[in-house]
Amino acid sequence: MFSNDFLLSLLSAKHIVILTGAGISAESGIATFRDAQTGLWERYDPAVLASADGYLADKSLVWGWYEWRRTQVLTAQPNAGHLAIAELAGYVARVTLITQNVDDLHERAGSRSVIHLHGSLHQPRCFQCAEPYVFANEIPTIAPAGERIEPPSCKCCGGSIRPGVVWFGEMLPEAAWQSAEDAILDCDALFSIGTSSLVRPAANLPDMAIIRGAKVIQINPGPTPLDAKVHYNFTGKAGEILPALVKALADLVS
Ligand code: OAD
Repeated sequence: MFSNDFLLSLLSAKHIVILTGAGISAESGIATFRDAQTGLWERYDPAVLASADGYLADKSLVWGWYEWRRTQVLTAQPNAGHLAIAELAGYVARVTLITQNVDDLHERAGSRSVIHLHGSLHQPRCFQCAEPYVFANEIPTIAPAGERIEPPSCKCCGGSIRPGVVWFGEMLPEAAWQSAEDAILDCDALFSIGTSSLVRPAANLPDMAIIRGAKVIQINPGPTPLDAKVHYNFTGKAGEILPALVKALADLVS
């Protein structure tokens, strides 16, 4: 599946960027957004559930929906794709991992310094004053889908706590975006894994890497707008292709 030239180019790279999307967590049982039938935005309205206006219109509906998603993540486990990405770092001089995902499965697989472009389900904050809110340690049980849950109140100002994810119409966290751009300016190769490459500005990162002369590699079972632009396109599941890649690298260096 992998040519020696391809594997050697990874081993000799000075800096590889890995950009992941919802597809990397699909094999952990976490729904993607746009896959037909199973995608969250196929079943739920993002205008209601992923916008500040939607939150202000019905806080308990929105908070309950994110509690359903957060508790699903708490009970899920990293899959072979997450684990292989963490292992890949052992074969390459430098890896920067950028994710659009709001779960913590990369971290739980052992990846460090993950750049979260779209925030985190696990780091909510006050809607009014932005003070972070810390969840109590809890035994994970999945909140029922569709249950309305009143958001907690901010200890500082009494405002309502909102999910810590980036909603439509909002800016990406500035420091995360800056780190992502810096990594792109410095990388020799970029992996785009499990993302539909439809949501900007994250979807601009592979284009920026291509313009800079970096090699772009995609892993995805379905078609994306990147197909026509990438240097290597591996069609299939991240949880199958990534472990095979790590094994091929291990075989080559042994
Ligand atoms: P999408 O749902 O748009 O795309 C998921 C991609 O994963 C699709 O291209 C699938 O083909 C692919 N996929 C499915 N199973 C896979 C597997 N086992 N291995 C590899 N790939 C697989 O998700 P994103 O591109 O991440 O924003 O969506 C981008 C953003 O849109 C999300 O971060 C979210 C959403 O609105 C926020 O949460 C702020």
